[in-house]
Amino acid sequence: MATSRRNRNDAPGEDLPKAKFNRENFRQALLIFRYVKPYRLKFVGGLVFIAFSSLTTMAFPYLLKQLIDSASTIHGRGTGFSPGTIAMSMMGVLGIQMIFSFMRVYLFTYVGEYALADMRRDVYGKMIMMSMDFFAQRRVGELSSRISNDLSQIQDAVSSVLAEILRGFLTLLIGLGLIFYISPRLTLLMLSVVPVIIVIAVFFSKKIRKVSKETQDRLADSNTIVQETLQGITNVKAFSNEWYEMGRYSRSLQQVVRMAVRNGRNRGLFISFLLFSTFGAIVLVVWYGAGLMQAGRLSFGDLTAFVLYTAFVGGTMAGFADLYSQLQKTLGATQRVREILQSDPEAVDASNLPVEEQHRLHGQVSLRHIAFHYPSRQDVAVLRDVNMEVLSGQQIALVGPSGAGKTTISALLLRFYEPTGGQLLFDGREAGAIPLSQLRKQMALVPQDVLLFGGTILENIAYGKPEATQQQVEQAARQAHAHEFIMGFPEGYQTIVGERGVKLSGGQRQRVAIARAILKDPVILILDEATSSLDSASESLVQEALENLMKKRTSFIIAHRLSTIRGADQILVLENGVIREHGTHQELLSLPDGLYRSLSRLQADLQES
Ligand SMILES: Nc1ncnc2c1ncn2[C@@H]1O[C@H](COP(=O)(O)OP(=O)(O)O)[C@@H](O)[C@H]1O
Ligand SMILES: [Mg+2]
Repeated sequence: MATSRRNRNDAPGEDLPKAKFNRENFRQALLIFRYVKPYRLKFVGGLVFIAFSSLTTMAFPYLLKQLIDSASTIHGRGTGFSPGTIAMSMMGVLGIQMIFSFMRVYLFTYVGEYALADMRRDVYGKMIMMSMDFFAQRRVGELSSRISNDLSQIQDAVSSVLAEILRGFLTLLIGLGLIFYISPRLTLLMLSVVPVIIVIAVFFSKKIRKVSKETQDRLADSNTIVQETLQGITNVKAFSNEWYEMGRYSRSLQQVVRMAVRNGRNRGLFISFLLFSTFGAIVLVVWYGAGLMQAGRLSFGDLTAFVLYTAFVGGTMAGFADLYSQLQKTLGATQRVREILQSDPEAVDASNLPVEEQHRLHGQVSLRHIAFHYPSRQDVAVLRDVNMEVLSGQQIALVGPSGAGKTTISALLLRFYEPTGGQLLFDGREAGAIPLSQLRKQMALVPQDVLLFGGTILENIAYGKPEATQQQVEQAARQAHAHEFIMGFPEGYQTIVGERGVKLSGGQRQRVAIARAILKDPVILILDEATSSLDSASESLVQEALENLMKKRTSFIIAHRLSTIRGADQILVLENGVIREHGTHQELLSLPDGLYRSLSRLQADLQES
């Protein structure tokens, strides 16, 4: 037993990784029952129905035997009931069986679906409240697979695996009991043959599944090639690399074919083995049974019932191997889901409460000796000693080479991460003293790459203030100089954007994001290269809008083009995580060997040429 267990764990999982069976894992799996609990009456009802339906299924061969033997006069083993009565009661059993099966499927589906939806909602809710750290350390695909695959696996367990196990045990118990009652000798013969066949078959099918899985993986690889090249078709064509991609694809296909054909051979062997051994076993049992019949120890009905029960028992035994692996997968899935459900979320509140008076900001921001490294890269100090004192309503420009840490500073302001050293103060208060949601409600970020959600342009702008009216949205769009291009679409503000909708250019997306920020009317505004995707003409238009937007509030402007930040109250030149220069445009230009001065020169030259 112990060795077979180990072997199962060594075999690579078919779809989802499996977990070991032990007490701790079982305790963890009880999580499932927390979600089943609200529907426990239906669930227990389902279990009862499945027990009943196993009983009626098992009664069937017995009644069949009665029916057959009622016609037999040789052995006189009939029960005395007429064939008609027995046939009628069999139909009755079948009818009851129909109701039981219906109830079982209906109840388990009901419980499974509802429990799954509850669980999905919880997992998603938990996930979305996690800190940026959490997302930085995991891939999006992995997280969404927890919500889809892992939870479906758990649902499967609720709505079928447990039921199947119960049914399996009942079938084995009753089936073995009955055949033993019919003929102990024949039972011993069967038990010496059938389990051996099953063990071989299970072993075989495991191997086949393993190779199928590999084939699937290879196929996925070759599909990736198709996807990549179709998405990047511009590159393929521009480099005239059609031949290259065809070579890559056909090599990848060859691997798929080789693997699939190898598996075809295995499957062929498996099927012929199965056919031979199944029918061989039947022949053996019937042959031996025929001998017993001749000796008068067995009726024809007995033999029929015996063969049928043996089929039930054999099928159940074979099914257990699969159920076992399903259980292991479910344990693995619950572990991964539990990991999410039990991790600590960020201290955000999920309700849309207005900003409280006591937490209302004025826009004064201080960074004192701020040091920071990303949790995922402990050894790289991104910020080392960053200081700034920003007065309410000031414009602060952050400039510097890419990779200097500008975006990181904006992430710290939004408290996506905690600084590893130093102090961050808002209006002289420790940042930590202000509830996260309250703080972020008063800030707006226009990021470097804007991602629009699938939906209308109206909804996308209103993301900054979900309760905004159409008029307010339009006004914000006008200020962001987005109104013109939006009205250029036949559907105007109702134009669907995002993955399935109209593709907006980078500059258009930025203007939507700026409108979003304008609508939010934040106390603190962060523009992270917010105009970098705009052409000069629209940039100067949007610049005007931004100037208006920045007037009433503290604004952090991260900019590439220095011409856009000349009017800033303070300019900070960041390099390698420290502030190299600090002053107004004029002050920085007057530094003889200044970094700002040389950057400024360079850009001016570029503009002239
Ligand atoms: N999520 C992250 N995890 C680890 N390192 C990061 C992460 N984001 C940025 N970095 C690193 O931090 C440094 C500063 O990045 P960033 O603040 O984006 O620079 P900038 O915005 O000035 O171009 C870079 O070296 C970058 O590789
Ligand atoms: Mg950046």
